[in-house]
Amino acid sequence: MECKSYFDTVAQQWDAMRREFFSPAVRDQALARAGLEAGRTALDVGAGSGFVSRGLVAKGLQVIAVDQSERMLAELSVALPEVDCRVGDADFLPVDDAAVDYVFANMYLHHVEDPGSAIREMVRVLKPGGVLTITDLDEHDFEFLRREQHDRWLGFQQAQLEEWYRAAGLEDVTVQPLGENCCASSCNCGEQVKISIFIASGKKAAEAQLST
Ligand SMILES: C[S@@+](CC[C@H](N)C(=O)[O-])C[C@H]1O[C@@H](n2cnc3c(N)ncnc32)[C@H](O)[C@@H]1O
Repeated sequence: MECKSYFDTVAQQWDAMRREFFSPAVRDQALARAGLEAGRTALDVGAGSGFVSRGLVAKGLQVIAVDQSERMLAELSVALPEVDCRVGDADFLPVDDAAVDYVFANMYLHHVEDPGSAIREMVRVLKPGGVLTITDLDEHDFEFLRREQHDRWLGFQQAQLEEWYRAAGLEDVTVQPLGENCCASSCNCGEQVKISIFIASGKKAAEAQLST
């Protein structure tokens, strides 16, 4: 089964699955780090059923959600009808250049084929001065996640994130431990694991401050 088919299949159970994997503190910290201003526009990439989008709507942001899985976006639409849902892929986000003030991607990067390219594409759609916040898994060696949850990358080194961020033209780059774990267990062998989560933040080089 491919990654997209996997997420289409689990879409209706994703909220329950996600609650076992990680806590809302991950979202709270991501939103806090971005320094949100109500009324601005935010993009939630790999939005799934709307974990991050929900927090953004609650803070008064205009939200665009992009995901490859129509079924995940269908779940999101029911819960958050005000969100602009768009089906799209990591390398071709269906969003104009310099269109949004913030981009968020939670637990998305370890699924994409080329993370450096996916980061460049997320930076493309940011306005000058806009902020990219990625929360994802630190490097680990739990192979069962490739087989059972279609993870393509077994997490990342924080130094690698910093390199990709800088190469994409971001400044004020920080990559740090978030202080939360992702908890997963294998369906086949019962193995239970905890993987630490990082938060990466950077600002698109600005000719001007965030515009309205
Ligand atoms: C682990 S889920 C995380 C969902 C959500 N961000 C959350 O925190 O609950 C990963 C999501 O990324 C999407 N995704 C994976 N690879 C993608 C790609 N190449 N392009 C667009 N979306 C992708 C999946 O369909 C899935 O909804």
